[in-house]
Amino acid sequence: MTKTKHTLTVKKVENSKINSVDFNNLTFGKTFTDYMYSCDFVDGEWTNPTIEPYGPLQIDPSARVFHYGQAVFEGMKAFKDASNDVWLFRPLDNLERINKSSARLAMPKFPKDLFLEGLTTLLNLDKDWIKNTPGSSMYIRPFVIATEPAISASPASEYKFMIILSPAQSYYAGEVRVLFAEEYSRAANGGVGFAKAAGNYAAQFYPTSLAHKEGYQQIIWTDANSHEYLEEAGTMNIFFRVNDSLLTAPISDRILDGITRKSIIQLAKDNNINVEERPITVKEIKEAATNGTLKEIFGAGTAAVITPILGFKHRDMKHEIIPASESYASLFKEKLTAIQYNVAEDTHGWRYKI
Ligand code: COI
Repeated sequence: MTKTKHTLTVKKVENSKINSVDFNNLTFGKTFTDYMYSCDFVDGEWTNPTIEPYGPLQIDPSARVFHYGQAVFEGMKAFKDASNDVWLFRPLDNLERINKSSARLAMPKFPKDLFLEGLTTLLNLDKDWIKNTPGSSMYIRPFVIATEPAISASPASEYKFMIILSPAQSYYAGEVRVLFAEEYSRAANGGVGFAKAAGNYAAQFYPTSLAHKEGYQQIIWTDANSHEYLEEAGTMNIFFRVNDSLLTAPISDRILDGITRKSIIQLAKDNNINVEERPITVKEIKEAATNGTLKEIFGAGTAAVITPILGFKHRDMKHEIIPASESYASLFKEKLTAIQYNVAEDTHGWRYKI
């Protein structure tokens, strides 16, 4: 076959690092596999797809990503079943979302054929790093950065699309309690809140560090205008169970269209659980907490999977949630992971075999 600028080049590692990794003691996002994938956008097209040993990049200090934050990313996971087959979960939804994020930041879309070829080849090369022990998965981080060396404030003409892989266990190591945001905001109408733009995350670090000092691991962001509506947690979408109904904020240009979020909504419908996608007020959740109808709060995201939230604070109200014995959080986690690990039937066509 003639090599074209679209032929995937694979450069093999000399020695795998795998034996130096303790797979039973992984800190989220700290360990990376042997390989990484990259593809460059130059002269108006994606070119030079390459898989090579994981390692540092050489990027010009004037690259626009460093100055104007033209950077978007995704979070995905691969799962290994008992027969050692590897499955992705709704991968084309991630591609669609990274392309929506890119479009909002004036960045080029990445093509489906290159994405699937790069991702599946990479996962096959690093297959031994994916473990099928309970709770283990491969966290996949695709991202795009503006590499053009130029510091005038306008969209770059050169980009790098990359995929790196990090073996994962749980995201939150301990209990999670949240603060309802009152002062800081994550997103505004017409902004980039729906996008997985790197800057959305940077903007949360300072207010979240203040929350940490008070003993809260996350902030539930409220709408920027009134701070009266509960929206999302930044690393997760948020669900409330009031009596037996499941409540979550509707998708908008301020809220990430979470793939775990929409899977849970579908699983709830499959299980005849009433789901309300509607604006949720701080007031109604505080009232439900006071009158005993607030049964659960949990976060949902690729990294966090489904994370129960054990308490919240808003102004002078602190509320602890008594974990329900038959919680929706554990029901959905069980149903979702059974599909992801190829244990349950995949009635919605969510699994993708590599
Ligand atoms: C994910 O769930 O994959 C996310 O993107 C959250 C992240 C910031 C760890």
